[in-house]
Amino acid sequence: MALKTSGALPLLTVVCLLSATERCSAQYKPTWESIDSRPLPDWFDQAKFGIFIHWGVYSVPSFGSEWFWWRWQKEKWQAYVNFMKANYPPNFRYEDFGPQFTAEFFNGKQWADVLSASGAKYVVLTSKHHEGFTLWGSKYSWNWNAMDVGPKRDLVAELADAVRNRTDLRFGLYHSLFEWFNPLYLEDAANAFKTQNFPITKTLPELYEIVTRYQPDVLWSDGGGNAPDTYWNSTGFLAWLYNESPVRDSVVTNDRWGNGCICKHGGYFTCRDRYNPGYLLPHKWENCMTIDQKSWGYRRDAVLADYLSIEQLVKTLVETVSCGGNMLMNIGPTHDGRIAPIFEERLRQMGSWLKVNGEAIYNTTSWRAQNDTITSGVWYTTKKQEDAIYALFLQWPDSEQLELGMPAVTPGKTVITLLGYPYELKWMSTQKGVTVTLPHFSYGQMPCLWGWTLKLQHAD
Ligand SMILES: *[C@@H]1O[C@H](CO)[C@@H](O)[C@H](O)[C@H]1NC(C)=O
Ligand SMILES: *[C@@H]1O[C@H](CO)[C@@H](O)[C@H](O)[C@H]1NC(C)=O
Ligand SMILES: *[C@@H]1O[C@H](CO)[C@@H](O)[C@H](O)[C@H]1NC(C)=O
Ligand SMILES: *[C@@H]1O[C@H](CO)[C@@H](O)[C@H](O)[C@H]1NC(C)=O
Repeated sequence: MALKTSGALPLLTVVCLLSATERCSAQYKPTWESIDSRPLPDWFDQAKFGIFIHWGVYSVPSFGSEWFWWRWQKEKWQAYVNFMKANYPPNFRYEDFGPQFTAEFFNGKQWADVLSASGAKYVVLTSKHHEGFTLWGSKYSWNWNAMDVGPKRDLVAELADAVRNRTDLRFGLYHSLFEWFNPLYLEDAANAFKTQNFPITKTLPELYEIVTRYQPDVLWSDGGGNAPDTYWNSTGFLAWLYNESPVRDSVVTNDRWGNGCICKHGGYFTCRDRYNPGYLLPHKWENCMTIDQKSWGYRRDAVLADYLSIEQLVKTLVETVSCGGNMLMNIGPTHDGRIAPIFEERLRQMGSWLKVNGEAIYNTTSWRAQNDTITSGVWYTTKKQEDAIYALFLQWPDSEQLELGMPAVTPGKTVITLLGYPYELKWMSTQKGVTVTLPHFSYGQMPCLWGWTLKLQHAD
């Protein structure tokens, strides 16, 4: 598509001849038409499940939400103002939380092992959130980064190394374009974004820095700050990312690259936080969501009911994958570098569920129907290589009979099994579809809990 525009052809030819890389290095042009035409690298759709990590200076107050600074000082939410009054001296500034972001218990290897146990195939770490604090020693974030302040460690490098050394997860980075209180950003905003001092001296150099230094396979952009993508030079950066960067073949990005981009431009679509449409989308998408329903960052004021149960998480994963999405499930570690046991438990539970049902999740595609017409809570995926349709069901029927209205079965040909159970199941073709007799399990004998999968082979 990029090559079609006639005026650009001579220039492109020259670049291709000079290029030392296998591909023509100017394949993508800095226009949305060209950027959007790039096929998403296959690994992302196959992966289906990733873990999001929100970690930063907001993990120190760990109160309310990672939007702590903004709500306390800009919007002056009463709960935040009272929290500061009650617990900190009057002149305490948000910056003073920096040295308390200590990470003394952070062990990249242990995190990597827990992430891997979840069954996730990628991880996305907040390299910098809207507060501007970088978890790596950025040249462009003087005295407001994890090498200069707090842990005095390169947290991005430590996690990247451990994940790459010990697991099969792809490593990704979240990065916020804007920063709430950065004076350069505020000045550009006051000029209606007609000046670009902030993106040119801060955002873009940081983006080039994290991509070349850590070579992330996911670049999860966020925080457009009400500015147009032209202010951020988004298409220019993405053209570099796709044509020349060290991750040009493997990297995936999302759709948060400035006003009007979300759900429309970039790589895969996120549309909005916790997006889970319940129907098939024609474009690859991701449901980014949180285990703690009220916050992305760790907060000490959470109660058990605020955390999604494993039943709710499995349901969300199943719905998301059936409708063509990936699920990016967020945890918020503590200021001292721990993954709290409640998060660890949810991660390990997901992993145990995926050990049995992963065949119906990873590397699948969406089927002609996403959910069943007769029994609610039944969601479908398919895998051509196995000639299989998977019916994932979220409730075990008391009758031990599961009725499905969508698959077309053929006696003598179709074979139905339950993942994690070694024998073929009995089934009956009915006027409405098919009725499957589930095994009768005694207490504790089910192959898994929270959701189950019927595998229908040689059905249509
Ligand atoms: C990862 O492997 C590299 C190279 O083998 C090594 O230098 C580094 O210490 C390892 N890091 C971790 C966290 O295991
Ligand atoms: C902005 O994008 C253009 C391409 O459109 C590129 O040539 C330029 O280097 C970019 N500027 C920065 C600061 O990244
Ligand atoms: C998915 O398919 C890819 C490419 O064929 C393969 O490398 C990978 O192991 C598969 N993953 C799973 C979990 O089956
Ligand atoms: C499931 O499928 C039916 C059509 O059979 C549809 O009306 C319904 O909205 C779908 N979604 C959910 C979440 O059940």
